[in-house]
Amino acid sequence: MKIAIVTGASSGIGREFARQIAAWGTLDEIWAVARRENRLQELARTLKIPVKIIPADLTREKGIEMLESLLKQEQPQVKILVNAAGFGKIGDYKNISRLESGKMIRLNCQAPVDVTMLALPYMRKDSHILQICSTAGFQPLPEMSVYAATKAFLLRYSRALRWELMNRGIVVTAVCPYWVRQTEFIQKASTGSHSVRHFPLAGTPEKIVRQALRDSLSGAAVSTPGLVGTAQRILTKLLPEELVIAGWELLRRL
Ligand SMILES: NC(=O)c1ccc[n+]([C@@H]2O[C@H](COP(=O)([O-])OP(=O)(O)OC[C@H]3O[C@@H](n4cnc5c(N)ncnc54)[C@H](OP(=O)(O)O)[C@@H]3O)[C@@H](O)[C@H]2O)c1
Repeated sequence: MKIAIVTGASSGIGREFARQIAAWGTLDEIWAVARRENRLQELARTLKIPVKIIPADLTREKGIEMLESLLKQEQPQVKILVNAAGFGKIGDYKNISRLESGKMIRLNCQAPVDVTMLALPYMRKDSHILQICSTAGFQPLPEMSVYAATKAFLLRYSRALRWELMNRGIVVTAVCPYWVRQTEFIQKASTGSHSVRHFPLAGTPEKIVRQALRDSLSGAAVSTPGLVGTAQRILTKLLPEELVIAGWELLRRL
């Protein structure tokens, strides 16, 4: 049985990955992971291939173990893994609690590593792993300091893992979108401190996912869907980091 595992499939970017991968019609099942079971059921009703609903909190060991035992039981061939579950918080060190920071680190860093390690024994040549990072991973972001650091972790992990898996013919792509609208991310990230005022030129899940899948299938190490993300990727390599941070400090106040 050939499957795709998509975490964060109850909303936004993850849900769009599930939709577009299902539409290929080449896989037998999508395994959709998130906490809100009703949202996963809604998704399942709209897809043309069977969906296994996995209502798991990936910040908890119990959630990870649920996926582990399903894999052991069903012994599928994992053709695609998309780690899209994640969240961010906007605000400085006074606005974001220790507990929220810890949860961000567990969901954005620990969970994708756990899920990837669980899925790898079930992956063969020509399988694909897409780690949903962010352009936030390209530079430090005051007022989103923990979130940006988690995405830098995921980006570095993805790029190194890619080399470790080359001899197995498994492609790892770090997907780094700039702001994306039509998801729950921005609303959940806002803490009311208005430290980031605008989200100009935000992309849509439909376009971002289409580009990310195209990039992964062509073997890309990093996918920066959209012009702004691509420009940010280049500029953060060329400019001194302090200047890049100062640029963000200016932009977020506009
Ligand atoms: N939107 C943007 O501007 C943007 C930009 C760059 C990168 N990204 C990244 O893209 C990814 C998807 O974000 P999105 O924009 O699609 O946001 P979203 O609409 O809020 O989706 C987040 C997903 O993560 C799941 N999730 C949250 N906590 C979880 C937990 N503890 N265990 C399991 N699943 C959990 C949510 O489902 P449940 O609540 O049902 O669990 C939901 O399906 C994230 O990693 C985000 O960092 C987003």
